[in-house]
Amino acid sequence: MKIIAVGSPKGGVGKTTAAVHLAHSLSSHGRTLLVDADSIQSAAGWAGDWPNVDVTSTIGADAQELARLRQADYAYAVVDLPGARDAESWHALLAPQGERPVPDLLLIPSRPRLIDLEPAVQLIRQEIAGRLPYLIVFTMVKTAQMHLAEQRANELRGLDLIVSSHMIRDYSVYDEAQERRSPVHRIGGERHRTARDAANDFEGLTSEVRTLTQ
Ligand SMILES: Nc1ncnc2c1ncn2[C@@H]1O[C@H](COP(=O)(O)OP(=O)(O)OP(=O)(O)O)[C@@H](O)[C@H]1O
Ligand SMILES: [Mg+2]
Repeated sequence: MKIIAVGSPKGGVGKTTAAVHLAHSLSSHGRTLLVDADSIQSAAGWAGDWPNVDVTSTIGADAQELARLRQADYAYAVVDLPGARDAESWHALLAPQGERPVPDLLLIPSRPRLIDLEPAVQLIRQEIAGRLPYLIVFTMVKTAQMHLAEQRANELRGLDLIVSSHMIRDYSVYDEAQERRSPVHRIGGERHRTARDAANDFEGLTSEVRTLTQ
């Protein structure tokens, strides 16, 4: 089983959105468990009824409990880590259990603005780099700012940081998807085209995550 944790030192950056969509996309490649480790339980509320994804809660991201999940019969587990207000509990998750930390990959969503990136970069430098594979992914990227985001990604790569070659663009269809408790993949009607573009962003990110955790 591959365990992909989604976390960030900042709140409201699209962690839950990334976790549920990653779980949805990964589920077509193998049995997938979504672990909601946030007491707010927004991932469980969003994806709790999806036929292709099993959902469980481990509130507070107990590293030992997550380590036990490894024994379950899943190809992938995606963990939606608690928000910034509960950073302590997921720092504990990054501590080694036995030989290494529990997650196979820490996905760190961030907006591309410097003010948003700084806490993530600090966290990576202080606690993550060299201990746990991670991937920064830019989220809520406005279409008009994609070239700036690409430049920012290259700047970060120049500083030896690992940044996804995919971006999650800003689309209001995510709000609709959350209200309907559906992945964007299943939003039809008038919003179908934007929903498809949004879904494609996650399909691209998912293939990168699969490669990194192979
Ligand atoms: N790519 C996107 N485009 C537009 N809106 C988005 C995008 N990603 C997330 N959102 C919206 O932003 C809000 C916050 O997203 P989300 O709940 O995923 O963030 P979070 O990091 O999990 O927050 P928290 O720290 O509270 O757990 C939600 O209303 C969501 O619908
Ligand atoms: Mg969340």
